[in-house]
This record gives sequence, structure tokens and C-alpha cells, in this order.
Amino acid sequence: MAEVVILSVVIKIGVALGKEAVKQASLQFQQFDTQLTELQGRMGRIRMELRLMHGFLCGVDIRNRRNQTYEIWVQELRMLAHEIEDIMDEYLYFVGHKHGTGWRTYLKKGCKQPNVLISLNKIASMVMEAETNLGHLFLVKSRWVSVVDGGNSSNSSDIVERSQHLASSSRSLGEEDLVGVDEDREQLETWLRGMHLDCSVVIVLHGMGGLGKTALAANVYMKEREKFDCHAWVFVSQTYSTKDVLKRLITELYKESEDTPGDITNLEIDGLQNILITFIADKKYLIILDDVWTPKAFDEFSRLIRNGKNSRLIITTREGDVAARGTPDRMLTLKDLPEDKAWDLFCKTTFASYADHECPKDLKPLSEEIVLRCKGLPLAIVSVGSLLRVREKTVEEWRRINDQLGWELINNPMLGDVRNVLHLSYIYLPTQLKSCFLYCSLFSEGYLFGRNMLARLWTAEGFIEERGASTFEQVAEGYMKELVQRNMLQLVQRNSFGRMKMFRMHDILRELAIDLCRNDLFGVTYDEDKCAGSLDKDGRRLVVQKLKKDIERSISSVHQLRSITVLDKSMPSLTLLHLLCEMSTYMTVLELSGLPIVNIPYAIGNLFNLRHLGLRRSKVKMLPKSVEKLSNLLTLDLSRSDIDELPGGIVKLKKLRHLFAQKVKYLNGRFLLSSSGVRIRSGLGNLTNLQTLQSLEAQDESVRKLRELRQLRSLRLFNVKGVYHEPLCESLVEMHFLSKLHVIASDENEVLLLNALPPNLQKLNLTGKLDIDSFQAVGRNLYSLRLNLSQLIEDPLPSISLLSNLTELFLDGAYNGEKLVFLAEWFPNLKTLQLRDLHNLKQLDIQEGAMVTLEKLSLVNLDSITEIPPGIKFLMTLRYLGFHEITQGFLTLLRECVRNGGMRQFWYTPRA
Ligand SMILES: *[C@@H]1O[C@H](CO)[C@@H](O)[C@H](O)[C@H]1NC(C)=O
Ligand SMILES: *[C@@H]1O[C@H](CO)[C@@H](O)[C@H](O)[C@H]1NC(C)=O
Ligand SMILES: *[C@@H]1O[C@H](CO)[C@@H](O)[C@H](O)[C@H]1NC(C)=O
Ligand SMILES: *[C@@H]1O[C@H](CO)[C@@H](O)[C@H](O)[C@H]1NC(C)=O
Ligand SMILES: *[C@@H]1O[C@H](CO)[C@@H](O)[C@H](O)[C@H]1NC(C)=O
Ligand SMILES: *[C@@H]1O[C@H](CO)[C@@H](O)[C@H](O)[C@H]1NC(C)=O
Ligand SMILES: *[C@@H]1O[C@H](CO)[C@@H](O)[C@H](O)[C@H]1NC(C)=O
Repeated sequence: MAEVVILSVVIKIGVALGKEAVKQASLQFQQFDTQLTELQGRMGRIRMELRLMHGFLCGVDIRNRRNQTYEIWVQELRMLAHEIEDIMDEYLYFVGHKHGTGWRTYLKKGCKQPNVLISLNKIASMVMEAETNLGHLFLVKSRWVSVVDGGNSSNSSDIVERSQHLASSSRSLGEEDLVGVDEDREQLETWLRGMHLDCSVVIVLHGMGGLGKTALAANVYMKEREKFDCHAWVFVSQTYSTKDVLKRLITELYKESEDTPGDITNLEIDGLQNILITFIADKKYLIILDDVWTPKAFDEFSRLIRNGKNSRLIITTREGDVAARGTPDRMLTLKDLPEDKAWDLFCKTTFASYADHECPKDLKPLSEEIVLRCKGLPLAIVSVGSLLRVREKTVEEWRRINDQLGWELINNPMLGDVRNVLHLSYIYLPTQLKSCFLYCSLFSEGYLFGRNMLARLWTAEGFIEERGASTFEQVAEGYMKELVQRNMLQLVQRNSFGRMKMFRMHDILRELAIDLCRNDLFGVTYDEDKCAGSLDKDGRRLVVQKLKKDIERSISSVHQLRSITVLDKSMPSLTLLHLLCEMSTYMTVLELSGLPIVNIPYAIGNLFNLRHLGLRRSKVKMLPKSVEKLSNLLTLDLSRSDIDELPGGIVKLKKLRHLFAQKVKYLNGRFLLSSSGVRIRSGLGNLTNLQTLQSLEAQDESVRKLRELRQLRSLRLFNVKGVYHEPLCESLVEMHFLSKLHVIASDENEVLLLNALPPNLQKLNLTGKLDIDSFQAVGRNLYSLRLNLSQLIEDPLPSISLLSNLTELFLDGAYNGEKLVFLAEWFPNLKTLQLRDLHNLKQLDIQEGAMVTLEKLSLVNLDSITEIPPGIKFLMTLRYLGFHEITQGFLTLLRECVRNGGMRQFWYTPRA
């Protein structure tokens, strides 16, 4: 299964033969035109052969995949492909650098002052050798590897084509995808909600892998967690360490609180336990411990957190002896689906687009056989169903899949039923999706992927192909959709207007993928606790989950590394960056967010291949001038670091698409300048590929140059003064793609006068004083509006209510008046409403028929309100009602109301 590697090399050669590299090369090697032409010709031929190989590998029938001769041949091919990748990177480095001072790798021993011709000849001879070897492999194939004919074996273009068709005829995914668990879910929700229980309760979810325990728990967690004072979701897994689990619990629980736990990195178990117990002592919490394997772990954690008021602890486990520790009347045992339910689920998934999801008559016998093979496991059924959904609905096709499933079961008995089904689903993925899928498995179990972040990483890794006029980000989102539809990634959360937001990988799929990664040398996960992850000599990607020692001593060969992601935030990081800059010259992705890195070595400029540099939440104060040499950089992430100004050369990075740089000055500050953006002195207009600019400090020059950034999708602008309004608005109306905008005034008294806004805006944040006329410029497509510190004198609701597509509205310190009225028929799509810090507000009037879809209402720090708004009773769809930072008087009022039985369920926090 080397197709993933082969494809990435094909793409790499494509870059080396692309317009940009060809132009650079002909400048660089002006005098050696013939040699260059010959070299490029060879590279073209290698690419063609690799593409044919790729096509062949995709078409190989699954039954060959375990043949030893074939496997050895594929291994050789993969090694050669990696060699070619190295040569191509070296070539790209060479053509991209004027003086050819490179040659650290291949010429170290030889001449001290390489001249251009020698270098060119060296590359040429390596390419020639690679071509010869490739030709030899082709010959060997026909001699030794005879492939079992899979009949009308589907080739990859075929699969891709059908997937695209599938993506375009997308169906909506949602809660209903949890099939056959309705009763379990209701039961679980009842246990969570039961307000009559004053004590805390441990709930156990038990069942084998693939039954959907985690999916069920996650579904309920997302829905119910807001109703608790604090909440945490922590994966325990087979090889947990107590310390680690405690740390993650503390971090999660504190996430939405106003306090911080202080520095917990070096605390021992006792200290951690104390923090945890103190924090939850008087709180109502919801904690999920997912995938607990040992009774010891059960005892340890449930003892620790059993206190608390009316709290809930959910434990999921595959192990019977763990489940036995719970109380029987608070235990859900998930079972495999009975035949009829299994059949329903299969039909619903496979024939999603058919009337009544009915299975055609001729496919019925084979379908029944296939369902039988899934042993009633929802995960297996949904997987095979999702696979069949994109296949041709013919008896031949069905027979083939059924045969292959049977073959897998017999030949890979160690994989077990579910994994065999899943393996088949994997094999049928188009190659690009395979890369994306394998990549996700390198992250820790249960890792939550955000859509934008994942799109940026996939793009930087080179998995995303260009498709017509679509941007990489759009194509990536299409891939996510496909992976979700094929059940290879789970969709965990959508945003308020229905767009996919968070994903997670199923643990069984992840286990399978990790094996595949290892076989393919695609990447490894390094986890000290699991003693796994000696980085192979040829490893390309490394995700560090846990590492106590310095990385230098743990990883012998970093030279070939293309991508490193550090998830262990306590890893000693002093020499990491220096080491990588010196040794890993081909590095493409550096994701080091959360590490306390202060200095960026000058040598970072050597990483000519670098496409992603993630330093979010670091301590970086400034970047060295050499970053201007990172000409391939797509993403630079310095969000929430300590940076004020970027070096002037930053504007030379013409490919840059996402620039995050924001300094947080005061955590939890409720005032205007609790954060600031970065300054870019001049030349901002050259960054024409920018899609994200968060955050820029407005200055004369930068505001005028904004109009050049036509590709912007998301913009956050600090320090906006009156004199900038006119040039700013002129720029904004030109930004046709801009969908998210956040403007922050320069101080509390500066009035934001934006009389023109981008036409296709979806989310708008305005922080600073406003004029009531400001809303006239807002487009009607707006989904989300957040007004902060606007201090409006006049009631803004009549104007805002014209934005009938709004799904979220936040008014923080936005209005100084005494009365707000929500009239009938206003805000028909609103799901979330928050009113905060409206200090003069005495009366909140919600009329019947207003906000008919509202799900979440938060009233925070409204200290002049002296009655519970009676209109709340009209909000029929409300799922969450919160009164926060309330006065003693208001609390008394609430209690009274409860006593009279006139109050629905609500949540509150008293003022600190
Ligand atoms: C593997 O394939 C070779 C040639 O195609 C064949 O001779 C050999 O029997 C196969 N081995 C197994 C274990 O199937
Ligand atoms: C291949 O497809 C053709 C037409 O689609 C069909 O007639 C033939 O039987 C198929 N062969 C196999 C081995 O499935
Ligand atoms: C792959 O399938 C496509 C579409 O069915 C077809 O046009 C193409 O010729 C096939 N390629 C190979 C190598 O079989
Ligand atoms: C910006 O682009 C212009 C025109 O392409 C060029 O003349 C100028 O040197 C560039 N500035 C920088 C800092 O790269
Ligand atoms: C308003 O700004 C404060 C401080 O930056 C922030 O905590 C709060 O979330 C903002 N409110 C909204 C609605 O964005
Ligand atoms: C608007 O504010 C919210 C909450 O503070 C934040 O999450 C979001 O990123 C902001 N939007 C933009 C475009 O900055
Ligand atoms: C709401 O949004 C849709 C498209 O998303 C748009 O066609 C419609 O005009 C909007 N509604 C209003 C009242 O503007």
C-alpha cells in the first residue's frame, strides 16, 4: 500500500516542474541549457512512470495485498519513491537559492566551493540513477509479481470520480446518524438531567469496541454540558498515567472558568489531586472518562471526583470487570444490533438516496450476507454501508465486495470482524483521502480536530490537490465531508448555521490506521509511556505525544523529517528548534503550539520547504529577519503569543495564506484593549494571497493597503480610529470573499463609523462605541453578530431585527438604555442570545412569537433587572437558560419563583 507515498512524490515532481521552479531554474542555470532540459525531461519521465505505478497499485485486487513477493516489491518501490522525493527537495532548494551554497547533504565530503555545474551534474546523475532503478522495478514486476485479476477492478480515477459525485449530492448528517440507540440516549439524558438527585452519580457505559459508546457519550455531552458549572472530557485509554489524566482534567475543567489553576506542569499527583478536589468541591460538574480499561483506574478517579453537588461522572469501558464497579441501576450495556435493526441501519446508510431506503430486490440476498458479516456492530455496518453507497449498485459489484470481505476474514483473522470491514473501507478510499485519513490517526486518541486547522495542516502537508477554481481550503472541506460520509471521521459538532466544525477519529479506526502508517513509513507517533515510536530511519512525519527527555537524545535521525507536531506541551523545548533548523532541512510542517518557546533561531531561514509554522500560545516576542526567506510558507500562526511587530520582510512571503498574530495582554479582561494586533510597517499590499489576517494593528499605511488583499476571508483589525474609517470602508466593500470581520476601536470613546461593509459578510464582531446608523451597512446574510462595548443610547433591536438570518446575537455592554423589547416575528432563526453587562437595563420584554427557534439564552451581569423576564415562558425551544453573575436580590427572586413552581429549569452563578 505505497500509493500514498507514490502520489506525494508525483505531486512533488509536479512542483519541481511547475512554472515557478522552471523559471528559477533557467535563471540559475542559464549557461547550461542543454543539461537542464535533459534533467527536466528525465524528471518528467519519472513522474509518468510513478503515475502509472500509482494507477497499478490502486487497481490491484485486495487478494494480492498479502502476497509476500508482492509486498517486498512494494517495499522496494516505496523506498525508491522516498529517495526520489529527497532528490526533488534538494533540487528545489538548489534552484531556489542564488548562490548554491546548499549541498550540506550530498556534497559534504567533496568540494568546498561547489560550482553550479558540479551541483547540476550531481543532481542529474542521481535522477538518472533513480530512473534506471525505476525501470528495473517495472521489469521485476512482470517477472515476479503476477497479479490476481480482480475482474473489472476499479481504478483510482474511477473511485475519485464517484466520490466527487457523492460530495456534490451531499446529504445532511446529524444526530439521526446515531441509529438504534434512541432508547439508550434517552436513558442517559434522563440520568444526566435528574435534578431531584442531590448527590453525585457515576454512570457506566459498557460494550465492546464499535458499538458506539463514545459516539453516544459525545452526543449527549455536547448537548448537556452547558447545563453544568464546568465540564471535562478526558480519554483515559489503555496506557494512561494518573498524572496525565489529572492534568488534562484540570485543564479542561478550568477552560471556561474565570480562574486559572496556575502552573501545573511540574506538580506531583498529590498537588494535582488537591487542585482538582478544591476546584470541584462546590460545583456541579459533568465529567466523562472515556475508554477506561482497568478497575484500578475506575476506583482511582471515581473516588477522587465523587464529591460535588448534583454532578455526573460518565465512564465508558469495553471491560466487564470495570463495568462491574459501577452500580447496576446506573449502567448502560450497549448490545450489538438485532438482525432487523442491523438491516435497517444498513439500508439507511447504503441506499440513502432511495425512496424509503429500500434495498433493490436483486441485491437483497448479497446484502443480507454482507450484513451478517458485520455481526451487528454499528460501526462495521455503517462503514460497509458507506462504502457501498458510493459503488455501482450492481450484483457484480456487490458480489465482489462480499468476496473481498470474506477473503479478509479468512486471511487476516487477527484483525477481527470490525477491523476487517474497516480495512476494506480504507482500501477503497481515493489516495488523497487515504493520506488525510492516515494523518489524523497520528494525533492522540480522541483528538478534536477543528475544520480550519485541519484544512491548513492537510494543505501544508501537500494532500490537497487543486481542483478548478476551488481554493485548497474548499477542497479540504470537501475531503472532510467525504471522510465523514464514509464514516472514516466522525462529525462531532456543527456551528450555529450548520457548517461542520469539529471532528474526531474513532479509536478502532485509529488503531487500524496507525498500523498502516507504520507499514507505509507514512509517519509515527512518539509516546514515551508506550515505549513506541523509535523513529525509523526513513520516517517522514512525527507526532510527539509524550516526551520527557530532550528530543535530541530520543530521535536518532531527524534529517529526513518533513513534519513534526508536538502535542506534549511540557516537553523540554530549549534545543528543539535549533536542532530542527540545523538538521531537518526539508521540513515542511512545524506545529509547536503551546510550547514555551521564546527565541526563534536565525537558522529558521534555512527551512526553504516550510509551509506551516505553528507557534500559537508561545512566548515568542519577535521573529528573526531570516523568516523572509521562507518563501513557501502558507501559514504563520503566532496567535496569543507575545508579539507586537513582524519583521518588514514578512511581506516577501507571497504565498502566505493565513497569518495569525495576536498578543493577549490581560487574560479574562473585559475591556477594549485586553489584546492587540501586530504592526506591519509597509508592503502589506504584496501579500495578495492572504485569506486570514488576525490581527492587524491599524496604521495609516496598512489601512490603505488592505484593499489589495482581495482574497481575505477573515480579518481582525485593532486600533481603528476615526481617520481610518473612510479608507477602511473603501477597502472593505471591495472584499467580496470576506466572511468574518472583527473591528476593534482604538479606545473607549472612539466611535466606529462603518458605513460600508463587505457584501458577503457572515460573522461580524464590533468592539467599541457605535452609532445607531451603523447597522444600515450590514448585509442581510449575516449569521452572527457580536456587539461589544457599543454603549448605544437608542434601542438597537429594531435595526438588528432586520437581519433575519441571524443565528447568534451577543450584546455585551452594547446598550445604555433601560428597556429592550423583542417583538413577535423578530429573529426567526436565532439560536443563541447573550445579553451581558447592560447595567441600566431594567426591563426585558420578550413577546410571544419572537425568537421562535431560540435554544440558548444567557443573561449575564444585568444588575438593574429586578424581575424575571416573564416572556421567557414563550420560548418553547429553549434548551439552556442561564442567569449569571446575579445579585443576591435576584437570587432570592429566582428561589421564590422555583418555590411557586412557576419556573422552568435554569442555571445560575452568583456574582463573584
Ligand atoms: C504470490 O504470488 C506469486 C506470483 O504471483 C505466486 O507464485 C505465489 O504463489 C503467491 N504466494 C502466495 C502465498 O499467495
Ligand atoms: C466486467 O464488466 C462487464 C461489463 O460491465 C461485464 O460484462 C463482465 O461480466 C464483468 N466481468 C467481471 C469479471 O466482473
Ligand atoms: C480507469 O477508469 C476510467 C473511468 O472508468 C477509464 O476512463 C480509464 O481508462 C481507466 N484507467 C485504467 C488504467 O484502467
Ligand atoms: C511589492 O511588490 C512590488 C510590485 O510587485 C515590488 O516592486 C516591491 O518590491 C514589493 N515589495 C516587497 C517588500 O517585496
Ligand atoms: C467582548 O470583549 C471581551 C474582552 O475582550 C470578551 O471577553 C468578550 O467575550 C467579548 N464579547 C463578545 C460578545 O465578543
Ligand atoms: C468574534 O468574537 C468571537 C468571540 O470572542 C471570536 O471567537 C471570533 O473569532 C471573533 N471573530 C473574528 C472574525 O475575529
Ligand atoms: C438569508 O440567507 C439566504 C442565503 O443564505 C438569502 O438568500 C436570504 O436572502 C437571506 N434572508 C434575508 C432576509 O436576507
